[in-house]
Amino acid sequence: MKHVFLLSLFFVGFMACKPEPNPKKEYPAPRPVTLATKPFFPPAVIPADNPLTVEGIELGRHLFYEKKLSGDNTQSCASCHNQELAFTDNGKPFSTGITGAVGVRNSMPLFNLTWTNRFFWDGRVPTLRAQVLLPIEDPTEMHESLENAIHKLEQTALYPELFGKAFGDEVVTEERMAKALEQFILSIQSTDSKFDKFRVNPVLSPLSLQETRGFNIFMREFSPPGSGRPVGADCFHCHGTHLFTANNFTNNGLDESPAVGFSIVTNDPNDIGKFKTPSLRNVGVTGPYMHDGRFATLEEVLEHYNAHIKQSQTLDVSLKSQGMGLGLTTQDKADIIAFLHTLTDSVYLNNPAYKSPF
Ligand code: HEC
Ligand code: HEC
Repeated sequence: MKHVFLLSLFFVGFMACKPEPNPKKEYPAPRPVTLATKPFFPPAVIPADNPLTVEGIELGRHLFYEKKLSGDNTQSCASCHNQELAFTDNGKPFSTGITGAVGVRNSMPLFNLTWTNRFFWDGRVPTLRAQVLLPIEDPTEMHESLENAIHKLEQTALYPELFGKAFGDEVVTEERMAKALEQFILSIQSTDSKFDKFRVNPVLSPLSLQETRGFNIFMREFSPPGSGRPVGADCFHCHGTHLFTANNFTNNGLDESPAVGFSIVTNDPNDIGKFKTPSLRNVGVTGPYMHDGRFATLEEVLEHYNAHIKQSQTLDVSLKSQGMGLGLTTQDKADIIAFLHTLTDSVYLNNPAYKSPF
């Protein structure tokens, strides 16, 4: 009797290895999620045809950490987007795909993307939904066809059910993968840095004197040396607002002959050398910096703005006016960096909702 029982268990186990999605099985409607609006942040913008749900986000989180989406089952989105580093690629200037191919851009942090409407450093993709499947097929990244990826997911015991819960039936499609990944990424918010706590209650959560001084220099207009006005680094023009980005594409003076950048989208030579102005939230953990990871440290970034802005046709006017440089002292630079570290959000960096489900 015992043997028969074990044998039948074996067969049940065997059959469970070869599941097939059951398109007829029905699931209850997924539960809606509303992202809380945090003080000083604008309300989250969610696409009308893809409202966030508990089950949709959960499926997206699984897909984000799913290595089966790559050609040889070794790489997931998370391989190049590590939560502990604001979803950047482990201190590397460029990322390596499954074939060993090395990319040409620095991996980007992932948070607060409900407020972004163009994706990648050059803005070449207009929606997150269109963006999220590209790394799977990119031969220099995960290098897998969507057809194969879908097939692999269908063969698991896990995914047909997760798709069922998120979308009402077990059918796995490209569009559903894209929508679930979009939901997960939209759900990732960074709103709880030291600076946020200070804004909400400056008495309970004050900034130090050095951080305050750094913030003031960051927010102040450039003062030409000898003007008698207090020193200003003019950072807020591009990295202003509570999101710490004006959400635009600008040329911040990296090169005399700038790389293509946003002109790839507009075909306008006036946009050569313009790249997505990154949010400075969590910038303390996202190095190396810039679209090509050329600066290893924040000290190098500050020295760039202070004294090494390269003139070119499309250099932003707010940097052109600085001419001979900002004239920041070592102390001024250290103070700005101390302020930038107040934008590190350990709640977000450790949020269990964004961690691997595996
Ligand atoms: C091999 C490394 C690698 C993998 C794997 C990878 N990414 Fe990326 N990711 C990058 C790089 C590099 C960039 C910047 C590329 C550029 O600008 O050309 C980027 C940019 C992004 C952006 C744009 C963010 C913004 O602010 O514009 C999103 C969103 C994103 N990745 C999501 C994903 C998702 C979802 C997956 C999995 C399906 C994934 N990535 C897999 C390296 C990777
Ligand atoms: C004219 C707009 C502009 C101004 C002014 C500006 N920035 Fe930037 N910043 C950018 C752009 C655009 C990038 C990305 C450029 C690239 O990679 O090609 C950037 C990148 C950065 C980065 C790297 C972020 C990352 O994730 O790689 C830091 C740090 C930074 N800026 C800090 C500052 C500070 C501090 C100031 C003031 C001294 C400042 N910025 C002034 C537009 C600007």
